[in-house]
Amino acid sequence: MNRRNFIRLAGGGTIAATTGTLVACGAVGSHYPAEAVEAWKGPVGETDARRRAVAYAITAPNPHNLQPWLVDLREEGVITLRTDRERVLHHTDPLGRQILIGHGAFLELLVMALAQQGVVSEVLLWPQGELPTALKDWDDRPVARITLKPGGTPDPLFAQVLLRRTPKTDFDTTRAIAPELLARLLGSAPAGAPLSVGGTVSADQLPALRTLCWESAKVELLTPRTMMESIHLTRVGPSEILQHRDGISINSPFVRAVSALGLFDRSAPPAEGSAAYKNAMGRFEGHSRTAMGFVWITGPNTRSDQIHTGRLYVRQQLQATALGVGMHPMSQAVQEFAEMAPHFERVHQLVLGQPAPRTPQDPTVQMFCRIGYPQGEVPATPRRPIARFVRT
Ligand SMILES: Cc1cc2nc3c(=O)[nH]c(=O)nc-3n(C[C@H](O)[C@H](O)[C@H](O)COP(=O)(O)O)c2cc1C
Repeated sequence: MNRRNFIRLAGGGTIAATTGTLVACGAVGSHYPAEAVEAWKGPVGETDARRRAVAYAITAPNPHNLQPWLVDLREEGVITLRTDRERVLHHTDPLGRQILIGHGAFLELLVMALAQQGVVSEVLLWPQGELPTALKDWDDRPVARITLKPGGTPDPLFAQVLLRRTPKTDFDTTRAIAPELLARLLGSAPAGAPLSVGGTVSADQLPALRTLCWESAKVELLTPRTMMESIHLTRVGPSEILQHRDGISINSPFVRAVSALGLFDRSAPPAEGSAAYKNAMGRFEGHSRTAMGFVWITGPNTRSDQIHTGRLYVRQQLQATALGVGMHPMSQAVQEFAEMAPHFERVHQLVLGQPAPRTPQDPTVQMFCRIGYPQGEVPATPRRPIARFVRT
């Protein structure tokens, strides 16, 4: 590879380099450090059924890879799931909706991993009542109390858990998604009222949805506080990735080298028109432009609906894994911050033919994902060690 890369420097200038040159200089390889991705080996040396299940559950998809889960194992035969209130997204997810979708995904993998071990889970959501609407009012009440009993039927999708990846890359535009494949993807994870699944690979619908992705991404990137939220969660290079094992991991040789020189400016959003700005924009534009289809989950928007959405979403992504197709959320248009309102309205018009919801009972687009075939291997993303999630 000899692609030119540019990045804005602390002093405001711009540097250009070739990836190939930097590889030759010794900054080799863009794969993540092995320890940071060890979760993808599954439980190693764990004998307790609950800890083994947690080891699988921490691979769940979740917004910005914050991994906001805390599990309490102090009560025998029970797992209590709570939110880590330090790990939320105040700006892009001010109502905590996406964070709770990530809890639903965790819960689904937990239940599947217990079933695999001959344990059936009785899940009680919100045993002490639902979390309040605004993120700032959240306390440590449990999201779910899971009581374990002997039984459980292994789930065929469990085989995909450690193979699942979210492809944050351009898709292959020479490979269309067959309508039959979309039907298999949508049919595989029966939604069950009140949630619905939908999707399209139709040439009539793709342009408007791609434009929506791109226009909404621009709003997130150009709104300083939402852009800074991502920048603060960006981990560059092996040592930062190993230190945090969460967030947005970047390990490309060029960015690593620039960061090692102390020249990667993370104190301010990239100025409009700057090289860094163009670089970030180009990535989102590529993702939008190469969407070969879209899938979505819609339904009402109570706290329990958000959890059920996460359970359904991860099943759908596991099925996509089994089918060999990539499924990548592009959540910008469904985010509830003020500047996004026109795109929030538009995504509801395009997907549901209805205005944006006004109450938690109104139909809401919960997940909005592009689908396509990735062009290369998709790496597994880092996870923190299991001990960080468990209270014993
Ligand atoms: C509710 C929700 C929203 C998400 N939105 C986005 C998004 O807008 N853009 C994106 O690149 N990934 C999005 N993701 C995927 C996460 O970034 C991804 O799950 C996380 O980085 C971990 O990577 P993995 O799924 O490959 O393990 C979302 C995931 C969830 C559960």
